[in-house]
Amino acid sequence: MDTESYIQSALVSNPLRESILRAMIKALQLPKGSRGLDAGCGIGLQCLLLAEEMGLTGHVTGLDVSSEMLDRGREIVKEAGLSEQISFQEGDVTNLPFDNNAFDWVWSSDCAGYGPWEPLPLLKELARVVKPGGIVAITAWSSEKLLPGYPRLEARLGATSAGIAPFVQGKKPELHFLRALGWFHELGLTEPRGKVFADSFYAPLSDNIRNALVTLFDMRWPDVSTELSSDDLVEFQRFCQPDSPDFILNLPDYYALFTYTMFWGKTAD
Ligand SMILES: C[S@@+](CC[C@H](N)C(=O)[O-])C[C@H]1O[C@@H](n2cnc3c(N)ncnc32)[C@H](O)[C@@H]1O
Repeated sequence: MDTESYIQSALVSNPLRESILRAMIKALQLPKGSRGLDAGCGIGLQCLLLAEEMGLTGHVTGLDVSSEMLDRGREIVKEAGLSEQISFQEGDVTNLPFDNNAFDWVWSSDCAGYGPWEPLPLLKELARVVKPGGIVAITAWSSEKLLPGYPRLEARLGATSAGIAPFVQGKKPELHFLRALGWFHELGLTEPRGKVFADSFYAPLSDNIRNALVTLFDMRWPDVSTELSSDDLVEFQRFCQPDSPDFILNLPDYYALFTYTMFWGKTAD
């Protein structure tokens, strides 16, 4: 997916994620007025939520490798009137352009726990820039039930390469995001915790949520056709394509749920 299409998908699907991300941020109880880093911030949608939580005296630095994402982030932050509280910097999460102990906390959503890199060195790099006793939090999408009544089709979709992404077949199990507690233990981060955050959506769907779910289907199960049996492909086209009369979002009793998982711990005092 090119960057502009990704940005559009992020904006359209944001109504599905926003309240769950807000709940995760609240659960961290980050100190008001503190300064933190959003590593792999994309277009800065969570920088806004983090800055809201920090209040006027706090500050959030959004870092991303993509200058296009950051340009859009700057526009969004300016429109929100939060340019004083949020700044952006281009950089690589695996080699952060910051001194040791530069921040009170670091947050990374759908990036640090999610990429092609070795997670331990990356988590160590995130922890390096956080002051002693500060929070290191990583979150990622962890499950969904988007096809009520069709568990077999959903299981088959979940077993495709896109369905198990960002994990890939053959990768060591300890590198799966849901094994992140082990990374926290190994790095000596204190009070490691993991918690699931869920949300659900049901008919009648507002236009916003319907569009967000259509985008989510596209993001979750792109290019699955070559990995499905012909029977599964027929079902996929019937229930998961917006132009099909049997598109599942048209059900008057449609219901969907999904989860994010957050792992967090503190740097040693
Ligand atoms: C799935 S997006 C998540 C964006 C944002 N955190 C969110 O949850 O909306 C992953 C982001 O990580 C960024 N990214 C990927 N590799 C990176 C790297 N090595 N250093 C910094 N950012 C990176 C991408 O440009 C993208 O914006």
